[in-house]
Amino acid sequence: MHTILVTGASKGIGQAIVEGLTGSGKRIICVSRHQPEWLAKAGEHIWHPLDLADIDQVEASLPTLFAPVLWHGCNRAWLINNAGAIAPVKRIGNLNAEGLARNMALNLTVPMLLANAFVHALKDAACPKLVVNISSGAAKRPIDGWSAYCSAKAGLEMATRALALEQGSAAHPVRALSFAPGIVDTGMQAEIRSAAPEDFAAVKQFIAYKEEGKLASPEAVAEVLLRFLEEDAFESGASVDYRELLKR
Ligand SMILES: NC(=O)c1ccc[n+]([C@@H]2O[C@H](COP(=O)([O-])OP(=O)(O)OC[C@H]3O[C@@H](n4cnc5c(N)ncnc54)[C@H](OP(=O)(O)O)[C@@H]3O)[C@@H](O)[C@H]2O)c1
Repeated sequence: MHTILVTGASKGIGQAIVEGLTGSGKRIICVSRHQPEWLAKAGEHIWHPLDLADIDQVEASLPTLFAPVLWHGCNRAWLINNAGAIAPVKRIGNLNAEGLARNMALNLTVPMLLANAFVHALKDAACPKLVVNISSGAAKRPIDGWSAYCSAKAGLEMATRALALEQGSAAHPVRALSFAPGIVDTGMQAEIRSAAPEDFAAVKQFIAYKEEGKLASPEAVAEVLLRFLEEDAFESGASVDYRELLKR
């Protein structure tokens, strides 16, 4: 069976990924803090409640998330590190340790920890294996007020490349991909638009993107991503952007 772990499955892009996979006969393991009604009713998913910004909680959950009963015997295995958050939207000088640590944990440390557990748990599995890290344009360029998010996503892109390099010599390699979804109409964008101008200089521009209908829908992004993953024609370690894939 094709087994897929999706983090941040409760809403936004993660929800659209899970809905795009539903009915395909795949085993879907969903992770988020909340279980909305649609997820509770979708009986074929396994849902694991977890605060992915809490490293100790994540570490304690790894044996459950990567239990042999879920993964052994699978004929394809994907880990989609999708959960992420923008906060704190504050310039360096106005950050605090807790906010910074939670951002780094959620956007960087925990995706790496999950990839680590995935690689280890499936090291003897000869099936196609893939880690997808949901990235951002913010990984490539600094954005005023987003220092934590930009830094964590840049680190995550490097983790993708490091994983691809290391796995190049493995007997049964795990492939890796960074995927930047563009600007997507989710709760994260609503949070971005609500930032104070003194914390985030480009807030008006992001309000204009929404007003001008420039945001992609999470469903469209998930559809393009899932088709790209199914085609499986990319080089391991690649970094791709939704808007580039649309042009192909
Ligand atoms: N939207 C955009 O324009 C955009 C652009 C570039 C990149 N991205 C990336 O795309 C990914 C998905 O973002 P989105 O726009 O879909 O955001 P979203 O609508 O805010 O959804 C975020 C998801 O992550 C989960 N999550 C957040 N904090 C969590 C925590 N501490 N523990 C466990 N789960 C947590 C949320 O679930 P719970 O709240 O139930 O925990 C939710 O399912 C993120 O990695 C984001 O950085 C988004």
